[in-house]
Amino acid sequence: MTASNQAESIQNVDWTATSALVTGGAGFIGSHLVELLVTAGARVTVLDTFATGSRANLAAVADAITLRERDIRVMDWAEYLTANPVDVIFHLAANAYVPPSVEAPAVDCELNFTTTFRLLEALRLLQWPGRLVFASSAAVYGNSVHVPISEDDPTVPISPYGVGKLAAERYLAVFADLYGLKMASVRYFSAFGPRQRKQVVFDLLVKLTRDRERLFIHGDGTQVRDFLYVEDAARSAMTVAANAPLRGEAYNVGAGKEYTIDQLAKSLCKITGVSPIFDYSGANRPGDPEKLVVDISRLRSIGYRPRADFDQGLADTVAWYESLTATTWR
Ligand SMILES: NC(=O)c1ccc[n+]([C@@H]2O[C@H](COP(=O)([O-])OP(=O)(O)OC[C@H]3O[C@@H](n4cnc5c(N)ncnc54)[C@H](O)[C@@H]3O)[C@@H](O)[C@H]2O)c1
Repeated sequence: MTASNQAESIQNVDWTATSALVTGGAGFIGSHLVELLVTAGARVTVLDTFATGSRANLAAVADAITLRERDIRVMDWAEYLTANPVDVIFHLAANAYVPPSVEAPAVDCELNFTTTFRLLEALRLLQWPGRLVFASSAAVYGNSVHVPISEDDPTVPISPYGVGKLAAERYLAVFADLYGLKMASVRYFSAFGPRQRKQVVFDLLVKLTRDRERLFIHGDGTQVRDFLYVEDAARSAMTVAANAPLRGEAYNVGAGKEYTIDQLAKSLCKITGVSPIFDYSGANRPGDPEKLVVDISRLRSIGYRPRADFDQGLADTVAWYESLTATTWR
């Protein structure tokens, strides 16, 4: 790849002439992706059950998109795509969380793996000429021993969620290879941002709201993490759809920067103006690695550049949280 075609602006897709289907488009990452696609000029259709997503997440673009309440577990994909042809599919609909997959692995397997397989099978039978990006996860790596984690590191998932994502990824890679379908996977590391109602940033804000004097932190605060702002997560999927070879490969998606949990907590305190005493549990939770950082050089090689500023991303998240919960800090 030459230096000139590494620039992110050089895209092999003209979004203004593109129709895109986003499964799970009413969810956290999906709704930000839909907004970016609309801004880029694409015609967008969203399929979602609103199980964890919501119409409210798409309020800003409601008039510009086609939003269908559909359960993708029971879709006849061949029939649907023949009647509603699209150029690009972003497949995000899923159980997006590890704990439910541990409690009910069959439910996770049906939605995250079987449903994805059925979509791939329909694309194979249709000899579908479009492009597909599948939302996979860092969970495919399990307890990776390498830091930073690269795509060539061993994939040894330790949860049903991770197994389902990896199995779907592997079918996608084999189908791309055998049948010439243009598809790739994005392995999201933990994203944060407005509309996310779980994970560490949201959890810290909830704790700060409940107790402004004392902030409980798991571990000793030195755990190192990569914090991926949701808009960058969404944009990476568009970069992969537009610039990647789409031969079944996978891309790590993270911010590519390291922050400690302490730094995160201090930044949130600075933004909210709250000054609690930090109360550390001391020991890391079982399964919580000390250092989880990600090598995004493969994604960079197709022209992706993270744009979000960490503190600005946090400030935007805090502003969203304040309006959601009617919280004022002082
Ligand atoms: N958020 C992260 O940090 C993260 C990390 C790794 C991977 N991912 C992956 O990215 C994708 C999006 O995650 P998210 O955080 O936005 O989750 P989310 O739960 O906000 O989004 C998932 C969307 O899928 C919809 N959905 C669920 N079941 C459906 C069904 N049967 N038919 C149609 N729609 C259905 C939900 O209503 C929701 O809108 C998921 O595939 C997830 O596994 C996310």
